Amino acid sequence: MINAVERKIEQYMTELDDTYVSSLYRKLPQGKRLRTKLILKIAGSDLKVIKTAATVEMIHAASLLHDDVIDNANTRRGKVSVNASEGDKIAIMMGDILYSKAFFELIGISPEVAKVVSNAVVQLSLGELADVKLSRKFHTNRDDYLTMLYQKTASLMEASAESAAILAGKPRQAYRQYGKNLGMAFQMIDDILDITADHQTLGKPALHDFVEGKVTLPYMYLYAVLSPDEQRNLVSLHRKRLTLEEMQWIKMKMAEHKIIEMAYTEAKVLITEAIALMESLGEQDLSQIAKEMIERTF
Ligand code: FPP
Ligand code: MG
Repeated sequence: MINAVERKIEQYMTELDDTYVSSLYRKLPQGKRLRTKLILKIAGSDLKVIKTAATVEMIHAASLLHDDVIDNANTRRGKVSVNASEGDKIAIMMGDILYSKAFFELIGISPEVAKVVSNAVVQLSLGELADVKLSRKFHTNRDDYLTMLYQKTASLMEASAESAAILAGKPRQAYRQYGKNLGMAFQMIDDILDITADHQTLGKPALHDFVEGKVTLPYMYLYAVLSPDEQRNLVSLHRKRLTLEEMQWIKMKMAEHKIIEMAYTEAKVLITEAIALMESLGEQDLSQIAKEMIERTF
């Protein structure tokens, strides 16, 4: 059924009647299609469901195109990013085309679903703005960071699950909570993998978040347990191109203080809640998606 979603997106692209846009779309790496998997598992494969998944994936792709411009990223999922190969202007416009076409199609699916998804895109944009602001200097503001994480990543997963529940006539609040927890945990694990996984697995350099200015939860936890001298050292490495020695120092200190374990525990609490919620509704497949998320290594 994921194929039906891919075909729907291709159809939407063809309708734009622009061969350059179609060829650009074909060059985009497809990713894990996590939002589609959620939507299809919750709501089956009705045409409205397929269309909803297609629009959500287009919005997600658009947000990543813009994010790569903002982050000045050269790669996306191990491939050259569109901003790197075609330039920022093309990447921005391709993003605009994808999400405006998605909105155009959404309105025709269901006003309720359109409301939920478009509200998530407002959150997404607020979250990206907060991310840019928070990345400017070293901070240890956990609440601001978690709000940003919710807006930037969890809101679209929350909206995906809620939209699917609306289409399937299922209790939307429970599915919304499940999507939110999954989204928060997904980003927390992403932040952990940025520290633990190697360059090849990640498709981007390791410890890239900190170099980009992103002070994720593991760095906040680490800062809290370091000596004043070590704290100064950590802050001095923020937003800096790190030498091998500096990277090793960060990783060594994280290992010494069991920081990664702490961060995993936090993500696991959210996943456990999501699993319990889905098991209470008899949704074994959705509970399995949550279980797999905590085990993912890329
Ligand atoms: C990736 O974050 C970024 C997002 C998940 C959201 C980006 C949102 C916008 C640019 C708002 C605009 C929205 C639209 C629809 C155009 P990251 O940089 O932490 O992760 P990465 O390592 O995957 O780049
Ligand atoms: Mg980015």
